[in-house]
Amino acid sequence: MKKLLDLIAQELVPAFEKAGYDASLARVSLSNRPDLCEYQCNGAMAAAKQYKKAPIMIANDVVANLSESTMFEEVTAVNPGFINMKVSGAFLADYLRKMQADRDLSVEKAKEPKKIVIDYGGANVAKPLHVGHLRSAIIGESLKRMGRFMGHEVIGDVHLGDWGLQMGLIITELQKRQPDLVYFQDDYTGEYPEEAPFTISDLEEIYPTASKKSKEDESYKEEALEATKQLQIGKPGYRALWNHIMKVSVTDLKKNYGKLDVSFDLWKGESDAQPYIPDMVQKMKDDGFAHEDQGAYVVDVKEETDTKEVPPCIIVKSDGASLYATTDLATIVERMKLYQPDQIQYVTDKRQEMHFIQVFRCARKTGLVKDDTRLSWLGFGTMNGKDGKPFKTRDGGVMRLENLISEINEEMYRKIMDNHEIDPEEAKETARIVGLAAIKYGDLSNQASKDYVFDIDRFTSFEGNTGPYILYTIVRIKSILNKYQAAGNDISSGQIGVPANASEKALMLEAGKFNSVMENAFEEMAPHKICSYIYDLANAFNRFYHETKILSEEDEQQKASWIRLLVLCRDVLESCIGVLGFDAPERM
Ligand code: ARG
Repeated sequence: MKKLLDLIAQELVPAFEKAGYDASLARVSLSNRPDLCEYQCNGAMAAAKQYKKAPIMIANDVVANLSESTMFEEVTAVNPGFINMKVSGAFLADYLRKMQADRDLSVEKAKEPKKIVIDYGGANVAKPLHVGHLRSAIIGESLKRMGRFMGHEVIGDVHLGDWGLQMGLIITELQKRQPDLVYFQDDYTGEYPEEAPFTISDLEEIYPTASKKSKEDESYKEEALEATKQLQIGKPGYRALWNHIMKVSVTDLKKNYGKLDVSFDLWKGESDAQPYIPDMVQKMKDDGFAHEDQGAYVVDVKEETDTKEVPPCIIVKSDGASLYATTDLATIVERMKLYQPDQIQYVTDKRQEMHFIQVFRCARKTGLVKDDTRLSWLGFGTMNGKDGKPFKTRDGGVMRLENLISEINEEMYRKIMDNHEIDPEEAKETARIVGLAAIKYGDLSNQASKDYVFDIDRFTSFEGNTGPYILYTIVRIKSILNKYQAAGNDISSGQIGVPANASEKALMLEAGKFNSVMENAFEEMAPHKICSYIYDLANAFNRFYHETKILSEEDEQQKASWIRLLVLCRDVLESCIGVLGFDAPERM
């Protein structure tokens, strides 16, 4: 369905043309003076030079041609040459009725759906998930849902960090603690018992212990590096342990991501890319892209237009080992082979920017992707505590995701129990739903690239620009609809009519923006635009609600029309939070 802005611009085209001006001047935007008008056109200002005429004269000419239009309640030319517009209630109501009848609520799905792989989450196996991974999961999940909403085929891949030194560290530490394990015997052949010789809580203790030891003890570190190497060349006992570590960790990760309502289509990782490395590197050498540099192999990726230094992309270290970039390049090879995506989208901490510049340029230069394969990266900022420093626990440790979630849920539970009488079991479940919204909205409502302050008090508040406020609004709408139905009425019988007052019109104008907001947010990979939209919509709804006695309205047709508008608002809000990655409870 056409966007409101486009329909209005379309209406202006003949008015410009009839007055002898170019049709391309008929561009319309939302008013930046909402006190004066709803929409504005600055075309007359732009035309002044070309037509050597005062802009106000041009604006007057155009406005004169619009006197017959039923689209507007008011069109005026104002100094120095703006065209200010207010749309008519009938036009607006008609638009919303069509929107409501449209299965996709006016959003035009992609005509040529793309296949998009989104690489997000990026948890490192055997290391606990911490809040640093939270952002990647939350933002990536939202981009995935946005893409699907727009009609694309989106494949989410968690891309685990499952091939690094942390694996060697764990194996080394295990060998010290349990040297008799079958896996450490020289003649070990590869069979291994179902049961892992450790639990997830063991792992969570083993890794930091080993990591600490390796920093203090050079020979321990050597051992861990050697174990990593042995694992990577396929020593059977180590491979078996690696399998155990993977199984135990992935089970735990799934549980944690589940709590966040984040799900992946693929549970692949860095290890999956390893088999592609030798051929890829060989080809880069053969094709003359990779050249030797002090024993290492590098691909030059700087470009003339660079304003900052872009170092060569190192694909093989001087000791023969591969690096993060090598693995990411090989993952591109794998993805192109297995899925042939039109786009690969990465979501990581913004400190990885240079890495992705190098990897993308290298992939393009060496022909790993097709000319029209899009490689895109969204870098996010740091989640800080109230002190402005990276978020920590009260005792200064790294905050674990699980604990963060329970803290939020406890706070939510307290607030819900304080608010009204409610069964504690239901309150607990509601706290979980609302708590998740608090976390996700708190994160997504900031532009992703910016750092933000994680403030539990603010995020869990029912007032202001928060997830709970949005949910509260949805629940309020649902409760009105429930009451209406409980009185024996049908919420689908009426028709949205012309607005009865200013706050209703303002609400209708907000609801009508849905398609353009969604498309724009997807194009710009900007979930925060959806957040700010639903905040505006929720505010517009609440203003309308406070000024209008909906259920006690005596004119049944009027009442039914409002109910239809409420249904539309509920559907728009729920579509938006669905794309952001959370749900609304029935009551709260
Ligand atoms: N595991 C990495 C980390 O924790 C993130 C991986 C991001 N994805 C990628 N393809 N490099 O920092």
